[in-house]
Amino acid sequence: MLFGRKSSPRASPLPLKKSDDPGPIKPKKKCTLKMLALGLVGIMFFRFFLTMAGRIVFSTFVFVASFDKSGSLDRFVNHAFYQILDGLDTQGELTCMNWGYVDLSPDAPKIEMDASDEPERWCLQMYNKIASAPGDLTGLNVLEVGSGRGGGSSYTKRYLHPAKMTGLDYSSKAVDFLTRKTRQKHPRR
Ligand SMILES: C[S@@+](CC[C@H](N)C(=O)[O-])C[C@H]1O[C@@H](n2cnc3c(N)ncnc32)[C@H](O)[C@@H]1O
Repeated sequence: MLFGRKSSPRASPLPLKKSDDPGPIKPKKKCTLKMLALGLVGIMFFRFFLTMAGRIVFSTFVFVASFDKSGSLDRFVNHAFYQILDGLDTQGELTCMNWGYVDLSPDAPKIEMDASDEPERWCLQMYNKIASAPGDLTGLNVLEVGSGRGGGSSYTKRYLHPAKMTGLDYSSKAVDFLTRKTRQKHPRR
């Protein structure tokens, strides 16, 4: 009986042709462009993830806060935000926490300030604008609610001459700062 074999691969007795010879194995080139592209895609995904996470957290907060008629959640988040914000200025240089005000009209008078107030001129200009809006404060008792680090209250007291200036804030960090730094910088007059 004959058992035929279907053709099966066999080792070629012939030497490899030159074209089949893989030659010496070279180390793989670093694929810099590919890595860069992957990195960029990674960063884009990460940013997208952060944005989405931020939106979800914010929407959840707005949704939950809408049921909180007492406003305590709102106060809690605000309080936490300002406590954190206050901790960010580790050098403790800033006594104000507002966006500032600049009168851009060409005939705007220059507001005179001590050299030590110049670094926070724009923020203090806002105090000058708002605190002097109701009129002359001389001899009045003034209360600032949300006085932050006290730079604005200090400015109001020193330049607008109320009889008494009181600052009030629920951020204990801001009040601590006021006690330590603002009074050091501008001792009570
Ligand atoms: C944007 S900062 C401005 C601080 C300061 N007026 C200034 O211009 O530098 C707002 C401040 O108001 C305080 N604040 C917000 N709501 C408050 C409230 N209901 N009672 C007391 N302080 C409050 C915050 O803790 C924060 O320090």
